[in-house]
Amino acid sequence: MKPIKLFAAALILTAAVSCNQPQNSSETTTYDNAVVENIMTRRSIRKYTDQPVSRDVINKIMECGINAPNGQNKQSWEVRIVDNPATMEKIKEIMAKGNPTIKPEAVKGCFRDAPVMAFIARDPEYPFSAYDCGLLSANIMLSAWSYGVGSICLGMPVRFIAGNEACKPVLDILGFSEGYEFCLCVGLGYPDEAPAAKPRDMGKVKFIE
Ligand SMILES: Cc1cc2nc3c(=O)[nH]c(=O)nc-3n(C[C@H](O)[C@H](O)[C@H](O)COP(=O)(O)O)c2cc1C
Repeated sequence: MKPIKLFAAALILTAAVSCNQPQNSSETTTYDNAVVENIMTRRSIRKYTDQPVSRDVINKIMECGINAPNGQNKQSWEVRIVDNPATMEKIKEIMAKGNPTIKPEAVKGCFRDAPVMAFIARDPEYPFSAYDCGLLSANIMLSAWSYGVGSICLGMPVRFIAGNEACKPVLDILGFSEGYEFCLCVGLGYPDEAPAAKPRDMGKVKFIE
């Protein structure tokens, strides 16, 4: 990115993330720039307010999502967004019935009550499609945070739905293209909590001389 563009992006992000700080956080960390601040202050949100996320904002977030790096620009993903509570309830009901050995609240709770749910599927014909979907998801979550929208990456819904014949009606509702495999969810909404960062292990990163 050209320096002028980088500066403009940093300015926009500074404005965006300044409204983003966890309300009850006592952290006083300062960051080198707005992009780093956005990355370092994003947390998984499991409690959301009732405030709806406008489709305008959702579209901007998704546009950032699909601008993620992806293998050979194959864009080996598909995204289906559910922001209609009635549709979400229908999906949860099917899932609860399709997983009778698990308490219905536990099955339904796997979505963490996020008011917007992005269901993501990958093209299994492309061996790197899972990475593409991961990078798409990261872009979705970080751009969401720049708008003050919290997020949660969810693998659990896949465990309940994938390979479960009784949950096939969920996939029918979502209508992914033939052959695509549902692989991840990203929930979005305005945060009603400000969790602290979980510890990270820099020891996983080593320079090799
Ligand atoms: C692939 C993946 C699957 C995840 N699945 C779930 C999930 O099913 N339920 C949940 O509450 N969190 C889920 N998470 C969120 C992680 O628990 C969370 O990212 C991690 O604990 C680090 O916390 P942080 O995101 O606040 O930094 C998932 C994250 C990833 C990347």
